[in-house]
Amino acid sequence: MSCMIDLDISHEYEGTIPCNYHPDFSAAGYQVIRELGRNLEGGRITYLAKEINSQKKVVIKEFCCANTTADWSGVKAYEREIQILQQLNHPRIPRYIDCFEKPGFFCLILEYKDAPSLGLKRRFNPQEIKKISLSILEILVYLQQQVSPIIHRDIKPDNILVDEHLNAYLVDFGLARLQNTKIDFSTLVAGTPGFMPPEEQCGHELTAASDLYSLGATLICLFTNTRSVDIGQLIDDNYRFNFQKLLPQISSQFRLWLKKMVEPNRKRRYANASVALQALEPIRVIGSRKKRDYLVAAMQPKKNIIILGLVTLAIILAVLAITLIVSQPGDAANSIEIQNFTNVEEPSRSN
Ligand SMILES: Nc1ncnc2c1ncn2[C@@H]1O[C@H](COP(=O)(O)OP(=O)(O)O)[C@@H](O)[C@H]1O
Ligand SMILES: [Mg+2]
Repeated sequence: MSCMIDLDISHEYEGTIPCNYHPDFSAAGYQVIRELGRNLEGGRITYLAKEINSQKKVVIKEFCCANTTADWSGVKAYEREIQILQQLNHPRIPRYIDCFEKPGFFCLILEYKDAPSLGLKRRFNPQEIKKISLSILEILVYLQQQVSPIIHRDIKPDNILVDEHLNAYLVDFGLARLQNTKIDFSTLVAGTPGFMPPEEQCGHELTAASDLYSLGATLICLFTNTRSVDIGQLIDDNYRFNFQKLLPQISSQFRLWLKKMVEPNRKRRYANASVALQALEPIRVIGSRKKRDYLVAAMQPKKNIIILGLVTLAIILAVLAITLIVSQPGDAANSIEIQNFTNVEEPSRSN
């Protein structure tokens, strides 16, 4: 890493920072254009900047590790993001360019993707949402097919950029980790409430299905035009998304697909992004008003009960049939006995 440039960053994070306040990164060769986002709790500010020599736009993500309550986790997030991004080479994941450090501050330079985030208020129709879903799933397939598969752990509208052609870009690898590695204690439960899969909340092992839950939650936000911070309004007490009534326009097939993405039990979710992508590709998004569709959707939750009922009925019928077969020779014997009894009685009657 080409870090540790002797840079004079004189600003401090004291009190609230005025939005038009831009740090001077000229010693490192960058000039800030505007702010893209800030996370004061985590001590991070992200800027759009340009490389002074080439005038090329870049993103500078600044981690403040002094005067915050998140010092140590801030350093960890910074190191993790660099470590993961350096391994990746995908056209829709910003490339790692460089980094520089100064006591109390770390700065990460990333390729700029000219696309607004889904955190901004934008409306998409169901067909467009399907296209975005496929585009994000392709990135997840890439991450999951690495020699050491990567779990992003913070998929949500704010960390997904979508351009005018509906290509999605995935940013913010500050919580990402390699699957099968132990989560370090500082980030044990570190995702965003509402988007975090239940297994993460419970401290269970994360799998390739974990990011699918967060993606499903993100898509529900898009369909229902719900802001990330309001996602709790869509979740019931059993940690289930109560979205069926909110999405009247989509087909039952697509609704079932989405339902499987956000299954609280990860074993009932699609196993990984590749399976979810293949399942989604042929699905029509807009609901037809065919009765059959509604019937399939209505029957789906009761499928197990219906199967159980049919099995029980089959067992009862089998037991009845066996009873009838077994009882028939006995009946014949009884009738012979009655006949014999009648024969014995008859002579005495004639006397
Ligand atoms: N490479 C990028 N190109 C364009 N915009 C970006 C890029 N990286 C981040 N952003 C924008 O900056 C915001 C904050 O960046 P992010 O990495 O998510 O920081 P944080 O860790 O504070 O959430 C994102 O929501 C997105 O809008
Ligand atoms: Mg973010």
